[in-house]
Amino acid sequence: MDHENQLKDYVQQVEEGILQLLPSIETRPSQLHSAMTYSLKAGGKRLRPVLLMATSELFGNTIDALPAAVAVECLHSYTLIHDDLPCMDDSDLRRGKPSCHKQFDEATAVLAGDALLTHAFQILGTAYEATPNTAAKLVVILSNAAGSQHLIGGQMEDIINEGGNADPETLEYIHKNKTAALLTASLHMGAVLGGANTTQIEKILQLGECLGITFQIVDDLLDQSSNVADLGKPIQSDTANKKTTYLSVHGTENAQQRVKSLKQQATSLCEEIAGTDSFLEWLSHKMAMRSN
Ligand code: IPE
Ligand code: IPE
Ligand code: MG
Ligand code: MG
Ligand code: MG
Repeated sequence: MDHENQLKDYVQQVEEGILQLLPSIETRPSQLHSAMTYSLKAGGKRLRPVLLMATSELFGNTIDALPAAVAVECLHSYTLIHDDLPCMDDSDLRRGKPSCHKQFDEATAVLAGDALLTHAFQILGTAYEATPNTAAKLVVILSNAAGSQHLIGGQMEDIINEGGNADPETLEYIHKNKTAALLTASLHMGAVLGGANTTQIEKILQLGECLGITFQIVDDLLDQSSNVADLGKPIQSDTANKKTTYLSVHGTENAQQRVKSLKQQATSLCEEIAGTDSFLEWLSHKMAMRSN
């Protein structure tokens, strides 16, 4: 299978997994389960679950990676629902559709986010019950990445630094934590499920940080230069919210330069990890060159 078809195949598996592992919309309270399903099924690139599955496959797929991939996408979707709330980025469009709080209401969006976050860990605990050591490792990796010293810490500093002139170190903190932590956790969980050794995991963590920082710089660039139809979310919202972004701290040209150099770094890491012409290298390249 070529890389493009491989990607389609992973995305399809993830989307089928989502349908299987989420409570149906008829489940009481139907409004809550409808909102959870609405946001998860709205689309999205599914990059985190695909990275998880591909990494697991690379190291030998010792244990079924699909439930963990779905758990990561549940958690990611919760972060987007809460990120869009009026008290956060106040964004009305997500994945080309009205944001959860627009389609439903704010209270429902807060609760749908809460429920997706919780559901992610329920999936891990349930699906990996037969391999408790693995289940525990996955829970620790994901909760650490999603918690107050990483993803939520990054979101907090993102909000605190609205309107200010944050320094480069603060920007680095925000990018590492609000974005790179979950991307890294996805690769890390995949590596654990695949049966990678300590040295391999060390490299995978380096790749995660590299991809994660690249991903957020590109997100910042696209906010400025893309269009609503391609992006599926509002443009120039960082400027409107006076966000600290790579562009506001270092300028557009430096952002593009940094993406180029990180892309090279990702290529070398992928080659060290997986040899030449791997799916991981192809996807890393695609993530850096993306237009949505
Ligand atoms: C958006 O993530 C949030 C950021 C970390 C920039 P994605 O760009 O992966 O969003 P979806 O999942 O494709 O909608
Ligand atoms: C969001 O960063 C990161 C998380 C949701 C954790 P952004 O606020 O830049 O993401 P978008 O641009 O709304 O997707
Ligand atoms: Mg935000
Ligand atoms: Mg946002
Ligand atoms: Mg953004």
